[in-house]
Order: sequence, then structure tokens, then C-alpha cells
Amino acid sequence: MSNYHIKHLEEYYQVYRKSVREPENFWGEVAEEHFMWRKKWDNVLSWDFNTPEVKWFQGAQLNITENCIDRHLLTRGDKTALIFEPNNPEEAAQHITYRQLHARVCQLANVLKDQGVKKGDRVCIYLPMIPELSIALLACARIGAIHSVIFAGFSSTALSTRINDSDCKLVITSDGSYRGSKSIDLKAIVDEGLEDCPGVKTVLVVKRTNTAVAMKEGRDKWLQPLLDKAYQDCVPEIMNAEDPLFILYTSGSTGKPKGMVHTTGGYMVYTAYTFKNVFQYTENDVYWCTADIGWITGHSYIVYGPLANGATTLMFEGVPSYPDYSRFWEIVEKHKVNQFYTAPTAIRALAKQNISFAEKHDLSSLKVLGSVGEPINEEAWHWYNDVIGKKKSPIVDTWWQTETGGIMITPIPFVTPTKPTYATLPFIGIQPALMDEKGIELKGNQVEGRLCIKFPWPGMARTIWGNHERYKDTYFSAFPGMYFSGDGALRDEVGYYRITGRVDDVIIVSGHNLGTAPIEDAINEHPAVAESAIVGFPHDIKGNALYGFVILKESGESRMHDNLRKEINQIITEHIGPIAKLDKIQFTSGLPKTRSGKIMRRILRKIASKDMSNMGDTSTLLNPEIVDVIKDSAL
Ligand code: WTA
Repeated sequence: MSNYHIKHLEEYYQVYRKSVREPENFWGEVAEEHFMWRKKWDNVLSWDFNTPEVKWFQGAQLNITENCIDRHLLTRGDKTALIFEPNNPEEAAQHITYRQLHARVCQLANVLKDQGVKKGDRVCIYLPMIPELSIALLACARIGAIHSVIFAGFSSTALSTRINDSDCKLVITSDGSYRGSKSIDLKAIVDEGLEDCPGVKTVLVVKRTNTAVAMKEGRDKWLQPLLDKAYQDCVPEIMNAEDPLFILYTSGSTGKPKGMVHTTGGYMVYTAYTFKNVFQYTENDVYWCTADIGWITGHSYIVYGPLANGATTLMFEGVPSYPDYSRFWEIVEKHKVNQFYTAPTAIRALAKQNISFAEKHDLSSLKVLGSVGEPINEEAWHWYNDVIGKKKSPIVDTWWQTETGGIMITPIPFVTPTKPTYATLPFIGIQPALMDEKGIELKGNQVEGRLCIKFPWPGMARTIWGNHERYKDTYFSAFPGMYFSGDGALRDEVGYYRITGRVDDVIIVSGHNLGTAPIEDAINEHPAVAESAIVGFPHDIKGNALYGFVILKESGESRMHDNLRKEINQIITEHIGPIAKLDKIQFTSGLPKTRSGKIMRRILRKIASKDMSNMGDTSTLLNPEIVDVIKDSAL
């Protein structure tokens, strides 16, 4: 037996040991007993972290949608698969059963086929959090098309860069989207983006806001009439375990986003197995993850992981503050949510509000609370634990990444004793290592270093779309033979892990990964800007906010500076999206640079955090005098 559902601590240790000593037997058993394969694998794992090449369940054949939908039809056909809670609380929620989901996924799959989409083609999905979004992912998977979901808060430039990078031929979007009291014209953003995307031949448009949109002759089609004519059954494409399932972009430390490629078999097994255990999901539970499906958390823990377990998964279109700050708690009460998974930034924003917003709702259905996306600070942890969980629902602080596909370090609720701000223990099968800067592994407890993983796990990304070299450079070169996460972590006296934050040029703002390079590239496009450097500084709701140091071509009059600040944020919004706007912009005459021309960000980070003491060793700077100049006019 594979111990699919771990229920106590001894069992965790026993299963963990097995997963590390005999990984192939362990994952082979999980895969065999709990999933539907059209053909079994020839071997469970082959790997080499130097090339790097990792293959799980090689030779196996399957379709992930048969696992997420078809196989539940006999036993759970009338069970709700998806609950849709609209932005507007006056609009009725929708309950979509597994049988209905099957029909809708098949219809969209048939429409995609009619539009000429074939196995291996890339389809871009740019949709708000409406049922069609989940259905679109699954419809692509049904026919073996590779989906590339772009978060619907990204700008037209960000959209077109990503569409072109993976050469998508079709885009699924909507007329508009609702977010709180605002509505956004998504289709107009798509139209603008597609001016630079000659490869896109078809745009399918979902009607959501009923706003007037321009429809380009021959390219744009309303989706509903096509769905109405489509057959409600679609034979699933048989995929190899290592065929790509999707591409999802994440920021890197160079300007170009990285299209992480996830494959089918291993990703399915890993997301399903982690979901089951990390949320202790049992039949009839209602599970809600507040993430957007535009991020990995939504892919793995709104769509694939829950559905592979036959779960009821809730998706919410809106924002926590609309119509007021009780909305999340109102939804928990209304749908009797049992597992609730959100981000520290949301917790901090909600904890700042009057406590009555949370207290006026019945939260007694909650059993497990999850946190993801950034370190959760002590204060937020306690508020979540006390006010929301009433000290009876364990908090699972889950550390993982777009690249890892699924949760990597986490407590198992009711199994692992929790500790505030600690992600605690590695999940089954995960072998973390902490490395010092010289590349030596720090053994034993009470050590702090760079967080690496020593052994493959089924959910890991296999490459970066179109750029395997970059995949190797970014993740497998800093510490040869290991996967390097880009995060720092410490291991306490009992072996619990605490994530301390990024050690590279990625900054996590409100749980979103932002690379400094793409933001700097955008700012530098402003005609008045000569150079810029972005760093993060602590922010009490967002976790980190962005601070920009900008050198102007001509220093100009300071009364112009406020206008320039607006223009710089406008450029960032156009190139990336409003999530990357800077909170503070300081104009400066120079930046601290080493002799090799590298900006010494450590110093800028200290200044941005108002930590003006001891700037450390500045002897390698070409222009050490600039440090005082910048300090003196810090914001
Ligand atoms: C950060 C999100 C501390 C981390 C699933 C990681 C966390 C990056 C945690 C990945 C956590 C995620 N505690 N930090 N529980 N979870 N992070 O790719 O820096 O959007 O490298 O994936 O978020 O962000 P991504």
C-alpha cells in the first residue's frame, strides 16, 4: 500500500523514509494505485541534474482530464466539482457537477479542434476568474494542446511577449472582467497586444461583462455560439507521461520571462498527492484557494490537484475588499468552506480591518488554513490562527514555486505540529539541502543557507520553453548536481525549515514574483531616464514594496519630478502591469557600482529600508562617495 493519505506523525516519518530510500518504488506505487493510465510506464524515473534531464513514468500513456473528470463520473457524477462565486454577491453562485464539467470541457475541446488546434499546439488563455478559465485549461489538456495562461492583470506588452515566446496560435479571452467595483476591458488589451503577434490566427471571446468590443473579421469569434453547436463528448488524446501539459511564465533576473514547462504524468501525481495530504481533503469537503489561476497556485491547487481527487473546488472572481472586507468570510460561511488557502498579503490586509468583519460570520466549517507565496510574518500568522482558525484549524505554511509544480515544504495538518513562520518539514519525497556560499552543504540543525533540492520529484518543471540552457544556468549551475531555488532558509534545532526570502534579484510583492530586470528595462525606455535600479523594502501589507533609484539624462528641475514619477509608473504599467508599480522613486546622480560595473544592490536595499547604519564593505566600489549622496536624499 502506498499510504496515499497520511494521518499521523509516525506514518509521515515512515513514509518519508521510504520515499527517500526507495523513491522509484514509492512513487510507482502511488501512481499505480491512485490514477488511471492507458499504458503503464517502462521505468519510474531517469534523471541527471547536470544535463539537466528528468523523466518520470517514461513510456506511460494517459490523459490528465480522464483522471480529473471521467473517472469520477461513475461515483461522483452529480457531485459539485466547481463552485463559482461571482464578483458581485448579488449574482447567483454556480455549482458545476463533474458530469456538467465533463460536457463543458468536451464542448470546448471540440471547438478548439474545429479551430485547427492540434496536439502540441500552444493556446494562450487570458481570462478572468470565471468557470471558462478552468474549463479552458482542461479543454486544452483534453486534446493535448499546451496551455499558457497569462494572468489577466498583465499588460498588453507582457501578453504579447509571452504569446510570441511560446508561439501561441489561438487566444481565449473575454470581453471584460470584473474586479471589485471596477470592470476592465480585457479584449481591448488583447487587441493591442496582438498587433505584435502575427502567429495568432484565432481569438475566442467569452461574454462576461457585455461591454462593447471590436471583433476583428476572420480572427475573433464569440465562444458561446460555437459551444452551443459542439458535441458534448470528446475522445481524450492519449499523451505520453512526459508530453508537456502547460507553460507558465515566471519572472527571472534577466528581462525575459521564463516559460516553465510542466509535463503530464509526474505533475498529475505530485499535485494530486500533495493536495490530498496538505489539505487532508475528505469526500464532501468544500475546498477554496483564493489564488488566481494565472499563477501556479491556481493551476495546481484550484484545478488539477483538487479535481484529480474528485474534490469540490471553489473559485472566486472578485477581491477580498468588495463589497467590503468581510467578503472572504461571507463566502466561507455561505459555502461552508472546509479548507481555505490564501496568501500572507491578503491575511495582512484583512487583519488590518475591524475584527467584526471576520467575527460576524460563522467560520466553524473551517478545518485547515493554508498560506502560500511569501514568508508569513509572526503577527499575521497569529491573527490567522486565532481570529480565523479559532486555534483549532492548523495553518499549513506551504513553501513551493512555479518551478516545483507542487508544495515542497509544509506541515501536514493534524500530523506535523506547527510553528509560527515555519514551513516545517519537507513533504514526502522531497530532499532539501542548505548550502553555504562556497557550495558546501550545511549538515545538521541550526544552520542557515541557500535552499536547494538534491533529488528529483515528479512535479518539477522539466525545462524553460525554447531555452534549456537558461534552465540549466538558472537552477542547476550555482550548486552543481542540485536544484537551486533562489530562496534562503534556515533549519532550526528540530529540523524545521523557515524560508527567509529570495537571495537573487526577484522581489516578492503581494505574493507576486517580480524580477528587477524587466522593471528596470521598462523604466529605461522613458526618454528622460539614463539608468535605474530597483530594490525591495519592507511593507506592512504587501510584504515588500518597490523602491526605484533613477538617474536622469539631464538632472532637470525638481518640480518636474512628480510628473516624471507618474510617467515612470505609467510605463511600468504598460510594459508589465500595475502590480509592478514603484512605491517610491528617488532621483539620483549615480548608483553604487563595483569595478566590474555591477550595481551593489545590498547598499540600495539598506537605504530603501531606512537602515542607514553600517553600509558594510564599500571598498570595491568605483564611486564610494555616491553612497552618502544617495543616503542624504533618501525618501
Ligand atoms: C516565495 C508560488 C516563504 C519564495 C507557489 C518562492 C514563499 C516564491 C512561500 C515562488 C512560503 C512561496 N514562505 N516564501 N510559504 N511560498 N514563497 O513561483 O520566495 O509564484 O521562491 O510560486 O515565492 O513564487 P511562485
